[in-house]
Amino acid sequence: MWTRACIFDLDGVIVDTARYHYLAWKRLTDDMGIVFTGKDNEQLKGVSRMASLDIILGIGGKKLSLPEKKELAALKNKWYLDYINRMSPADILPGTLQFLNELRHNHIKIALGSASRNTPLLLKRLGMQNDFDAIADGNTVENTKPDPEVFLKAAGMMGIDTARCVVFVDAVAGVEAALKAGMICIGIGEHSVLNDAHMVISGLYEMDLDKLIALEKRLGYEKFI
Ligand code: G6P
Ligand code: MG
Repeated sequence: MWTRACIFDLDGVIVDTARYHYLAWKRLTDDMGIVFTGKDNEQLKGVSRMASLDIILGIGGKKLSLPEKKELAALKNKWYLDYINRMSPADILPGTLQFLNELRHNHIKIALGSASRNTPLLLKRLGMQNDFDAIADGNTVENTKPDPEVFLKAAGMMGIDTARCVVFVDAVAGVEAALKAGMICIGIGEHSVLNDAHMVISGLYEMDLDKLIALEKRLGYEKFI
């Protein structure tokens, strides 16, 4: 196989927290009198907490000072944590653990690449703290997606050539970041939204090693092996 490592986004790929992020932002925007829709929320996927707030304030045409912004971001996170703290291994999305097992048995490394600063807490709630060879998250990365830093960092931590990494992401910003990193990208969600990805699936339950090998072949990587 060409692939040596798979890097997974967390929110929207391993666990369906995207709706909790949305509900927490929605509560904030409702309080502030900003009209914020599910479509607007698409722009926030994969984007860091503060960058998300900046996008929201842009939508509402509001300008705030840094201390004010920090206060609002903290409030949103407090509401978000109320949801997260109720999560358990039962919330891991279908097919995730099976696919990770298949990768592990075939000696393919596994990393996490997320913008979330709540990654350690979330992995603990899911009982997945020990499932990754490397974790790059919002606590260790400076530049938010679509910057490729988070994926490059994960590859670096594993010592794997970036071209031999496959990224699984649910957000437009994540697809862009993976492609900038020179990695194969598999989008999780809608074709119409993630059309730049090399392949789009509905969830990890649709994924297995045979499909990955077929994708490598379609992209012409077999000739390098
Ligand atoms: C993920 C989500 C974003 C979220 C970001 C930061 O990338 O897709 O919607 O804004 O993480 O999350 P945090 O948990 O640090 O607020
Ligand atoms: Mg995501």
